[in-house]
Amino acid sequence: MSEAERAKWEARYGAEDYAPDQEPVPFLCERVDTLPVGRALCLAAGSGRNAVFLAERGFVVTAVDISARGLAWCRELAERRGVEVTTVEADLLSWDFGEGEYDLVTDFYYYEQALFPAIGRALKPGGHFVFQTFSVDQALRSTGPRNRAFMVEPHGLLAAFAGWRIRYFEDGVVEDQAVVRIVAQKPT
Ligand SMILES: C[S@@+](CC[C@H](N)C(=O)[O-])C[C@H]1O[C@@H](n2cnc3c(N)ncnc32)[C@H](O)[C@@H]1O
Repeated sequence: MSEAERAKWEARYGAEDYAPDQEPVPFLCERVDTLPVGRALCLAAGSGRNAVFLAERGFVVTAVDISARGLAWCRELAERRGVEVTTVEADLLSWDFGEGEYDLVTDFYYYEQALFPAIGRALKPGGHFVFQTFSVDQALRSTGPRNRAFMVEPHGLLAAFAGWRIRYFEDGVVEDQAVVRIVAQKPT
């Protein structure tokens, strides 16, 4: 599965007409002032739009992705913007997230429920997890992605962070896409 994913994303990031989106996810921009600056881990960081944005805001950023080409775009953007981002090429399904290392973990448009416990361990007490991706409602819409395997069931997401402070939660339609977004704070 991961090998097929890697090949898919390598092809996408390596395509001649690929032009990376350099704008961070608006939800991250909206929430960033509520997140204490520190060490940030950007999961499935792709071409780095969110990782570079966080570095510009003073975070010490590690960006992880399975695609070497995606991370090459990330490093290029970081260099152009004059910031540093540490990139790690790895399969998140087998990567060691470490323990209590990060003040912030972000995940945008990559959903793998099995990673939630590792995200919890990777965060310091009081650290934040910021996540946005498609909800299951997206499968019912007439445009955009349809594969339910990549879509979040909102109750399941909230259940995965039971006992955490839910600083923000939204299950709705944003810019014509059905999404769930959450900011969950690990208990201290
Ligand atoms: C839809 S893109 C999102 C990229 C980025 N988060 C953004 O919002 O711009 C999904 C990303 O997940 C990465 N990915 C897919 N499977 C992965 C895995 N098993 N381990 C690490 N990264 C993975 C892909 O390479 C791709 O960059």
